[in-house]
Amino acid sequence: MIVDLRSDTVTQPSPGMREAMMNAAIGDDVFGEDPSVLQLEEKCAALFGMEAAVFCPSGTMTNQIGINILTQPYEEIICYKGAHIYRYEGGGLAANSQVSTRTLDGDRGRLSVEEIEANINHAADIHQPITSLVALENTVVREAGSFYTLDQIQRISASVKRNKIKLHLDGARLFNALTETNDPPADYGKYFDTISICLSKGLGAPVGSVILCSKAHEHKARRMRKAFGGGMRQAGFLAAAAIYALDHNIHRLSEDHRRAKALGQVLQHLPWVKFLMPVDTNILIFTVADSLTPEMVVHKLNEHQIRAVKFGAKEIRMVTHLDVDDRMLDKTIDVLNKINFKSC
Ligand SMILES: Cc1ncc(COP(=O)(O)O)c(C=O)c1O
Repeated sequence: MIVDLRSDTVTQPSPGMREAMMNAAIGDDVFGEDPSVLQLEEKCAALFGMEAAVFCPSGTMTNQIGINILTQPYEEIICYKGAHIYRYEGGGLAANSQVSTRTLDGDRGRLSVEEIEANINHAADIHQPITSLVALENTVVREAGSFYTLDQIQRISASVKRNKIKLHLDGARLFNALTETNDPPADYGKYFDTISICLSKGLGAPVGSVILCSKAHEHKARRMRKAFGGGMRQAGFLAAAAIYALDHNIHRLSEDHRRAKALGQVLQHLPWVKFLMPVDTNILIFTVADSLTPEMVVHKLNEHQIRAVKFGAKEIRMVTHLDVDDRMLDKTIDVLNKINFKSC
């Protein structure tokens, strides 16, 4: 039995999801004629209290579109220094939107009003790029799935509005955050200009993300999706999987969080683990002992059919998801307790 904890993107569609895909009503989505895609877009927009949604192949694309429609070349965006949009989107920000980036520490990746306001450039000074966008990530993947509460977001939104700055959310794992906070998703639309939601992470769809925006921005979002090569034809097969994921897989995310916490309990007491970040949702990040490398630990875990990823010079990441059940959790705990490294 292989336990694949590398990412929550590795899930396989369940039998129910596969059936929904096979029975999907489809059409050419570039002509706006795919009923399943239209249904998914409407559902997502309504869920988050936004006017429009555009279905895209990836979360990278929805982030890049969101940023592109809210900025102009030569402007600057503010984000956490480990943000996915900055660290893991292949430099797309620079090429696609021609913006510079002001990166901040945050509190485990969560930016505060004070930190943001201290880093807004003076628009009147021609030396400084105009700060036009703040991009938040919720949950924060580089910080082991730390999350914002709606209250924190409300304060950031009020501040950026006062400063005539737009607000984008990378909500790749927003449902994981909502699982912990119980905040109503429909309130999110009030605070953001654009929101990227991934269906292919914790929710278990094979492919797909949506970018949520205003009606006024929808046309530009569709234009940029086309320009980025993301216009899909009979995408209804994928949209049907995403609808199934929204209907069936949100409520169970708390199980992933429970299993992540159980793994955290074990990891924090192991001699070869130097430091474990707090486990807030479904992501675990830990530093290995000085005498070890992440490669050594990942290799050893692989020998026992446990998969994890190196996530920094000394760090390893594990992620729980819908294809990890209690049997797999027990096996992982057993292996973690059993393996040892003589030198540490
Ligand atoms: C926080 C975050 N944002 C965006 C993405 C991009 O999603 P995709 O892999 O669909 O491009 C990821 C992917 O893991 C992510 O973790």
